[in-house]
Amino acid sequence: MRVLITGAAGFIGFHLALRLINEGHEIVGLDNVNDYYDINIKFGRLKETGIDVHKIEYNKIVKSNKFRKYSFIKLNLEDKENILKLFKEQRFDYVCNLAAQAGVRYSLTNPDAYINSNIIGFMNILEASRYNNIKHLVYASSSSVYGMNENYPFSIHDNVDHPVSLYAATKKSNELMAHTYSHLYGIPTTGLRFFTVYGPWGRPDMALFLFTKAILEGKEIDIYNYGNMKRDFTYVDDIIEGITRVVYNTASPNFNWTGSNPDPGTSSSPYRLYNIGSNRPVLLMDFIKAIEKNLGIEAKKNMLPLQPGDVPASHADVQDLINDLNYTPNTEIEIGIKNFIDWYLEFYK
Ligand SMILES: NC(=O)c1ccc[n+]([C@@H]2O[C@H](COP(=O)([O-])OP(=O)(O)OC[C@H]3O[C@@H](n4cnc5c(N)ncnc54)[C@H](O)[C@@H]3O)[C@@H](O)[C@H]2O)c1
Repeated sequence: MRVLITGAAGFIGFHLALRLINEGHEIVGLDNVNDYYDINIKFGRLKETGIDVHKIEYNKIVKSNKFRKYSFIKLNLEDKENILKLFKEQRFDYVCNLAAQAGVRYSLTNPDAYINSNIIGFMNILEASRYNNIKHLVYASSSSVYGMNENYPFSIHDNVDHPVSLYAATKKSNELMAHTYSHLYGIPTTGLRFFTVYGPWGRPDMALFLFTKAILEGKEIDIYNYGNMKRDFTYVDDIIEGITRVVYNTASPNFNWTGSNPDPGTSSSPYRLYNIGSNRPVLLMDFIKAIEKNLGIEAKKNMLPLQPGDVPASHADVQDLINDLNYTPNTEIEIGIKNFIDWYLEFYK
């Protein structure tokens, strides 16, 4: 299989690249290596996949010096001309689109980044898939699409028309755009709603990284909604296992689907959605206790109200993942946090 992974210098894309390389596929990783967060972490991930970061140039393919079947290209999703050229030349079978402007809070101050990467960029991936016979387009959506939903656990069969951040709105838009292309051009598409992913090489703008860093530096940690938060934290290896199973399981039409009672999670077109979450939400304060225990340091806590755009709880209904792919995430939070902290201490020495 020839697979394009976008966002390959990012947290999830990097882990997926390693997994699919090890399964023996021909992989091209794509990323614009932007500086939304510490670029050294992105370089560190690229080095792990054998990419010499000094050789990276815009729109030039660099071969891995560690994995024979891996190469990397620095490219913007918005660069339609070169995206179309890449697809034409490389003849991918499968596409995993993980590149995006992520983060809820940043979308309040930098809305343009979301429209550029997540809307225009995603449209270019759809257009390129349309003209290049892609067997399955798998793309990252997000649990944030559930927005104002309070029907727990969150189900892909519920309506999600009430996002509370522009980030969530772009992810929901991706699902709508994908449906249109599945319907019009028969491209099988599967959208994956990830729930708060954590683990080694994790993102510096997310809670586990922020808390670990602040605790080690003796600084206060900001705790929103005065700690009354619950999150379906999902370990990165579980996310990768889910994505891998989905890639091989090409989306197909649901022949029972009907327009008179439309199921939001499936379609009469080859279009699917899955939640990938642990299905075991953890109280934020328990999450913090597990970090404190691992570090052997008590955190200084700064209790704050809920931030605009944030939601107090998330909980994934993963029944479709179990039914269709015989899979449910299972990493214990204590193990996941320990693995992250081991990585953090090693990376920052
Ligand atoms: N990490 C989570 O908890 C989580 C939860 C839900 C959804 N997601 C989604 O999963 C995907 C991967 O997330 P992540 O945590 O690995 O984020 P990440 O920021 O670490 O990775 C995304 C990568 O995409 C690249 N990128 C951004 N815009 C680009 C563009 N226009 N062109 C080319 N490359 C671009 C960035 O440089 C980055 O390396 C994203 O789509 C994100 O929205 C993540």
